[in-house]
Amino acid sequence: MIRSTLQPKALSGAQSSLSPIVLTHRDFALISALAHEEFGIELGPGKEQLVAARVGKLMRRLSFSSFREFYGHLQADRTGQCLTQLIDSLTTNHTSFFREQAHFAFLVQHVFPAWESSRPMRIWSAACSTGEEPYTIALIANEHFQSRRQPAPHILASDISTHALDTAQKGAYPAQRLQHALAPWLRKHLLRGEGQWDGWYRMRPEIMDMVEFRRINLIHPLPDIGRFDVIFCRNVMIYFSHQTQAQLVSRLAACLEPGGYLLVGHSETLTGIQHGLQHVQPAIYRKRGASK
Ligand SMILES: C[S@@+](CC[C@H](N)C(=O)[O-])C[C@H]1O[C@@H](n2cnc3c(N)ncnc32)[C@H](O)[C@@H]1O
Repeated sequence: MIRSTLQPKALSGAQSSLSPIVLTHRDFALISALAHEEFGIELGPGKEQLVAARVGKLMRRLSFSSFREFYGHLQADRTGQCLTQLIDSLTTNHTSFFREQAHFAFLVQHVFPAWESSRPMRIWSAACSTGEEPYTIALIANEHFQSRRQPAPHILASDISTHALDTAQKGAYPAQRLQHALAPWLRKHLLRGEGQWDGWYRMRPEIMDMVEFRRINLIHPLPDIGRFDVIFCRNVMIYFSHQTQAQLVSRLAACLEPGGYLLVGHSETLTGIQHGLQHVQPAIYRKRGASK
């Protein structure tokens, strides 16, 4: 038995009398198989407690008291809504502005200055979570391209989590999310909330206009999204099996323009994956065929 140790907060009298949700090892195996099949996520041994807590929380929210009923509903639900809620509860959306700063320095020092085309650069943040990654790109790109009177890049930001995408699309963050060495720079470039928004910062309209959000599951064949000059696919492959990683990297490489860059998380490696990309520096790869 895997017991959810979660103590629900602020439950009503009726709900607070519910006993903790208990998942059997078979229940865990069913959820793991589903997460693998639908989202590529590997919930290996050691994740039982975490899964029990998160699935338990979701079951309470949806008012299920037995796993059997919940799983039955998950399978019968043709809208896919329950599956979406499951993935929202199982994924970790941890992110921050300027996370793994070396990548942003690389854009500013090498990629942006080399851009000579008259078309807008196309950048994809392929697991954008709550938006800090694509907005960091938009902020530094806006500063660079505006001063050179070049068109602002277009940024596609996608994730599988609708919950994370909802937050991202609002473009508003509490001040604590801006705690970073570059916080003073960020504060200067964001709009400071007033009144009921005191303590919050939001993106300026011109920054929001640079970013288009979309729900994309990276383990399925990609929709028709065109080609990109830079793809950020960071801190998501760690959840996938080696085979799923290899398939994803090959799809991403196919979506790169010649000379385009693929940026992965610094704890992720493409070692052992056939990708045909050139290794540029840690966690940065480039598709061959650039004119310079
Ligand atoms: C840890 S966050 C990384 C956010 C950001 N890229 C960064 O490095 O800060 C991982 C994100 O991957 C998303 N994710 C997990 N599985 C996915 C899938 N199959 N397709 C698309 N996104 C997925 C999660 O919803 C989550 O927002």
